[in-house]
Amino acid sequence: MSGNLDGARAKDFAAPRGIPDYYPPTSADFRRVRDTMTQAARLAGYGHIELPIFEDTALFARGVGESTDVVSKEMYTFTDRGDRSVTLRPEGTAGVVRAVIQHGLDRGALPIKLCYAGPFFRYEKPQAGRYRQLQQVGVEAIGVDDPALDAEVIAIADEGYRRLGLTGFRLEITSLGDDASRGPYREALQEFLFGLDLDEPTRHRAQINPLRVLDDKRPEIKAATADAPLFIDYLSDDARAHFDTVLTHLKRLGVPYEINPRLVRGLDYYTKTTFEFVHDGLGAQSGIGGGGRYDGLMRLLGAKQDLSGIGFGIGVDRTMLAMEVEGVAHADTARCRVFGVPLGAEAKAELVDVAGRLRAAGISVDLAYGDRGLKGAMKAADRSGARLALVLGDRELAERRIEVKDLSTGEQHEVALDELVSEITRLLG
Ligand code: HAM
Repeated sequence: MSGNLDGARAKDFAAPRGIPDYYPPTSADFRRVRDTMTQAARLAGYGHIELPIFEDTALFARGVGESTDVVSKEMYTFTDRGDRSVTLRPEGTAGVVRAVIQHGLDRGALPIKLCYAGPFFRYEKPQAGRYRQLQQVGVEAIGVDDPALDAEVIAIADEGYRRLGLTGFRLEITSLGDDASRGPYREALQEFLFGLDLDEPTRHRAQINPLRVLDDKRPEIKAATADAPLFIDYLSDDARAHFDTVLTHLKRLGVPYEINPRLVRGLDYYTKTTFEFVHDGLGAQSGIGGGGRYDGLMRLLGAKQDLSGIGFGIGVDRTMLAMEVEGVAHADTARCRVFGVPLGAEAKAELVDVAGRLRAAGISVDLAYGDRGLKGAMKAADRSGARLALVLGDRELAERRIEVKDLSTGEQHEVALDELVSEITRLLG
């Protein structure tokens, strides 16, 4: 037997499988992705919405679709102490639409534009870029069915990725039609699928939700459905016009796209514009974000009036991996801008005061804690990523002066303690 007899071993408390921790320096990229994406949304007038992490299971079963993998295989569902079935949210759109209906937001100005960020949960097989707790930034614009709004949503994501320094991604886009397109396409697809030699569950799926068969990950099904009819060939005149207008807007906005008529999304609610951002440096888990329009979701979730919506979900984890691949990660890993190095107890007391004054002026400061001597403290200063080190010994303290060292150039000069805050502010620009 190994380890502590009356205690647990550290590995007993490892994070659950497939759930990443983010800590410095990588966590700076996490924040950068989240902040950059939400800022891009804010610039287009999206307000923040904070949603519950778990909701009634039926919300997701209905909203996302019973026959999707997300609902049928991947939900974290449990019964709470009040005997209700609840589920850790696997995605954000159903919750946003639920909140819009519940709080009557659809009776106010339209479209309702909302942005959210946080963790989502899917019991998938963990691998690189596929986690059981995944992080998304999402937006939803609900209440106006205007192709210009589809283009806006897509452009927000595109702008966000570019601001992060990414260039190696592609936008794939297609249309899944409107109500009028659905019947004829469903018929054509079913006729094709019923002509195939399918196993019983797949045949059943073809009967109730034929589009889902095209999302089957098994290679033999993928091969058998390679020549299936395409939705884009069955668009009604209205759906076609909507799609063409979205593409025209994207061209004018300078957002490059590729039409991929075989694009299949893992959620049932999509109609009309449907898209995915793909990064080719990521291997199998290449989708860094995706979304689309949903016409019937409000009605499905109990609203009296059915309003069309459009949105996206950006995968924060995969976007971070893409930044790593492109060499644009870790751009901002400095913990602080100024680092204090005290040489003695009195100097330390003085530097604690100085740090307080600098922080009050909005300048980030850390100190060498513990008694590690000049060499160890200067090493800590370098590691912190600070621009300036403040070195204070007994002699300087007696003269009420402090040594300021620029850690990138090595230049140093003495400054009167009384003038330190204004001098540091000046030096940091
Ligand atoms: P989704 O495509 O299921 O869409 O997820 C959006 C993004 O989340 C994916 O493109 C991917 O980057 C990331 N993601 C999904 N699953 C995982 C995972 N297991 N590990 C790591 N990253 C993952 C939605 O969730 C829709 N709610 C998006 C939307 C909003 N559509 C309309 N409005």
